[in-house]
Amino acid sequence: MDHFVFHNPTKLIFGKGQLASLRTEVPAYGNKVLLVYGGGSIKRSGLYDQVTAILREIGAEVTELAGVEPNPRLSTVHRGVELCKSNGIELVLAVGGGSVLDCAKAIAVGAKYDGDMWDFAERKAVPKAALPLGTVLTMAATGSEMNGNSVISNETTKEKLGWGSKLAYPAFSILDPQFTASLPKEQTVYGMVDIMSHVFEHYFHPTPNTPLQDEFCEALLRTVIETAPKLAADLENYDLRETILLCGTMALNGVLNMGLSGDWATHNIEHAVSAVYDIPHGGGLAILFPNWMKYNLKQDIARFKRLATHVFHVDPTGKSDEAVALEGIEALRSFWNSIGAPSRLADYSIDDSQLEVMAEKAVRFGSFGNFAVLDKQDVLEIYRMSL
Ligand code: NZQ
Ligand code: ZN
Repeated sequence: MDHFVFHNPTKLIFGKGQLASLRTEVPAYGNKVLLVYGGGSIKRSGLYDQVTAILREIGAEVTELAGVEPNPRLSTVHRGVELCKSNGIELVLAVGGGSVLDCAKAIAVGAKYDGDMWDFAERKAVPKAALPLGTVLTMAATGSEMNGNSVISNETTKEKLGWGSKLAYPAFSILDPQFTASLPKEQTVYGMVDIMSHVFEHYFHPTPNTPLQDEFCEALLRTVIETAPKLAADLENYDLRETILLCGTMALNGVLNMGLSGDWATHNIEHAVSAVYDIPHGGGLAILFPNWMKYNLKQDIARFKRLATHVFHVDPTGKSDEAVALEGIEALRSFWNSIGAPSRLADYSIDDSQLEVMAEKAVRFGSFGNFAVLDKQDVLEIYRMSL
């Protein structure tokens, strides 16, 4: 293992009825609240009414930022920062999916910075201060509710960049599985693909002696694989929503990658596609991840074989290691197809016209990937395999 420090400061408040804890959490940080939400799902589900009723009851002074886009935009972050500065906001409260949370994180650091928050995404500066952030999550996917990461799209330069800071961890996150029940099938599937992809990003690592971490990853993958088809067929099932919601948080809150450095190339490759075509993150990952796996199979066949046998229950009898490994990757592809995820860029009407542009964006900060280092030619090849 690599040496490590684990410090996750987010208070996770999980379960049915836990929205009530807003009554005590919000006043701990202040009275002036910026309520950040998306395109209207929380109004349709009734969550907006419940949150605002509690905020009224505790006498909070509320400013609203509505309409955060999926793949949240820098211009929306700018609007939020202005609202914080002009209204003396003391707490940013995000209610929604990963996009709303990521936008709120960018607002929270932008509000305490004199320059443009985009400097953080471009690695030109690091946040030195932030407003406290609370979240109420409505979608299991990103893990943003319990990590310090955020991904923002700059619509002017057509870039989508991730950034992270210890200061961007939510102070508290409220996760009630009931609030995820209104999520349509398509988004539910994208979320589950994203969760599995986060585990893969950890699982493919070059660090020796990580037996517990590897077992944790496999347990999480098996749990999602067991649950996903049932949930896709029974979207309002509380128990299944509860299981997936916890999987989403655990997949990217720092527990699985204690003492190791995961790969993270596929996320970078996907963000470059989303930057140009504005496709859903989970949809892009479903297309790209099996191809990244095939492309890098030879890097560590034993690891791919282990995935095939421990997670997809491939029978290795009488087969070469490579054949078993490939069967595992095909099993992943079939599994994602079976729950309704896309498998080709053509499914989003993406042709080969922008491959160069996307590959160039992917290598913006140079070669990348901890399990297999990729350069622009490698990225282009993975895009071509995905057409
Ligand atoms: O905008 P509203 O109306 O709320 O609708 C959203 C949106 O259209 C809808 N939705 C969310 N909860 C719902 C619901 N609809 C009905 N009922 C509910 N309960 O779902 C749509 C997608 O929401 P979004 O927040 O965009 O999805 P997700 O949580 O997958 O977030 C995706 C973004 O997170 C980034 C992605 O790149 C992408 O920009 N990521 C962030 C990470 C992080 N912070 O750690 C890591 C991830 O790997 C990822 O890159
Ligand atoms: Zn992701």
